[in-house]
Amino acid sequence: SMETLLTSAAILTCVLFVVYDTWWRFLGTSGTLRGRNGFPVFGCFPLLGKNKERVFMNWSRTSYGPIYYARLGASRVLVLNGYEAVREALVLRPQAFAGRCKTELMKLLYEGQHGIMQLDHGPMWKAQRKFGQNALGSLGMGKRSLQSKIVNEFNCLSSTLEEELLANGSKGAYLDEMLWLYAANVISLLIFNESFDPDNEKWFGAMRENIRSHTASQCSRRERFLYLLMYVPFLKNLPLVRQQLNVTIQGRKTKLAKFKQFVENHRQSRDPDDPRDFIDCYLNTMDSKSANDRLHFTEKQLLYFMNDLFIAGTETSSNTNSWALLLLLKNPEVMKRLRDEIDSLGREPTLEDEYKMPYTRAVMQEIFRYRPALPCNIIPRKTTTSIELNGHSIPAGMPVIANLWSVHHDPVTWAPDPETFRPERHLNRDGEFMTSDHVMPFSVGLRSCIGRNLARNELFIFLTSILRRFNLEFADGCYVDDMTGESGLLLHPPPYKLSFSS
Ligand code: HEM
Repeated sequence: SMETLLTSAAILTCVLFVVYDTWWRFLGTSGTLRGRNGFPVFGCFPLLGKNKERVFMNWSRTSYGPIYYARLGASRVLVLNGYEAVREALVLRPQAFAGRCKTELMKLLYEGQHGIMQLDHGPMWKAQRKFGQNALGSLGMGKRSLQSKIVNEFNCLSSTLEEELLANGSKGAYLDEMLWLYAANVISLLIFNESFDPDNEKWFGAMRENIRSHTASQCSRRERFLYLLMYVPFLKNLPLVRQQLNVTIQGRKTKLAKFKQFVENHRQSRDPDDPRDFIDCYLNTMDSKSANDRLHFTEKQLLYFMNDLFIAGTETSSNTNSWALLLLLKNPEVMKRLRDEIDSLGREPTLEDEYKMPYTRAVMQEIFRYRPALPCNIIPRKTTTSIELNGHSIPAGMPVIANLWSVHHDPVTWAPDPETFRPERHLNRDGEFMTSDHVMPFSVGLRSCIGRNLARNELFIFLTSILRRFNLEFADGCYVDDMTGESGLLLHPPPYKLSFSS
């Protein structure tokens, strides 16, 4: 009968479920590590909540110590907590921790592995990384020209914002769009030597659709789902998920086609002796005489590298700027002291002034400490060999998450008040700024962020320019109480609206 059929189907499903789960539980080794397996199939996912970085840190404090594993979907992932563990692994064993996990999701979204971020440790990644660091250095903020372009960019966007704020009065406006455009335009300037005004739908439309158009919490929910997909790949076969992924894949294709056009135009207009931007530098290396270079530097690689720079450099920066502003609004005394330091220069600060501005630097370091945009690597690293770490034996090929949050919120390092936003903690008795090794928003070791200087400079220009230009406050009825934020792939601030202060 129908009933027996259904019952048998249900029993069969359960048996398969358990077999599948047991299979994964015992497949792969976690060496001698202790850790948490969580639930069948999903592993620890149901336990992570909206702030996995905090949960990971709690587990290290209450149960397992700084180094443990957490099963996520099918994989046992090494989780490193606290400064010592992160340093011991990523800094002192750089090679061993320089791999990158190939997740199913990334294979699907990236047609295999290209670019830089997704590449595993090896000659291809090394070549891209070295090139990337040189190119960013030589095009980067060392050159005044890029700096003034960024300032210019900021000014254009802030004029648009000003109009909107004036028009809306005390109802205020969200800043997200502006922050996103600012960050995206900085990357565009770097890569194509062009930026895009908001009305120009050339290709921005497609990009923005991909990323914005969600409120922060929807955005982090969607991101949490993507994160789950990385580890529980069979979910991609569910029809609704498939449909969403197809939209994302289509978006990526549109983007890459657009990138290809930019590269074509650059081929026509470039002067090999005077590279204007990232594309020109890459094309120069593609022309190189060395057979090795010709192997590693291909057009496909270039297109994916451009894509990676957008992905790695846009949301992270706009997210940081958004936290920055929110933290200043919540801490008016900090905002005042910062503004005083900026105003004391008597003109628009430039990056060369930074070393004369200890309070500004302290505020920046505290923003990076207090709310890092990427609190624990979302695209995990991977061990390249089996190793001993603090008495644990760790297998080769194990995914690794460095929990930077736990470094930034360590109760001993930041005693007595790790959970307070307090820039003064980074100043010594004489009011001089102290750089801290324990603030590592860009991670450490061989796979740390290659955009860190650019990102820091963007924040500096953003803070100094916005404070000089505007006097802002929370819009009517929109005070933010809960500063926890939600983490999906990034740690997102709660949404907030601003208006001019009266
Ligand atoms: C505030 C802004 C930013 C933050 C907080 C940030 C943070 C990070 C972190 C934590 C990683 C390391 C991941 C790991 O350890 O495996 C990373 C990698 C990376 N970042 Fe950033 N980043 C920011 C801005 C940028 C910008 C502006 C760019 C581009 C110009 C960029 C390009 C990259 C690339 C290409 C990688 C991958 C490096 C590799 O795999 O070898 N980032 N970023």
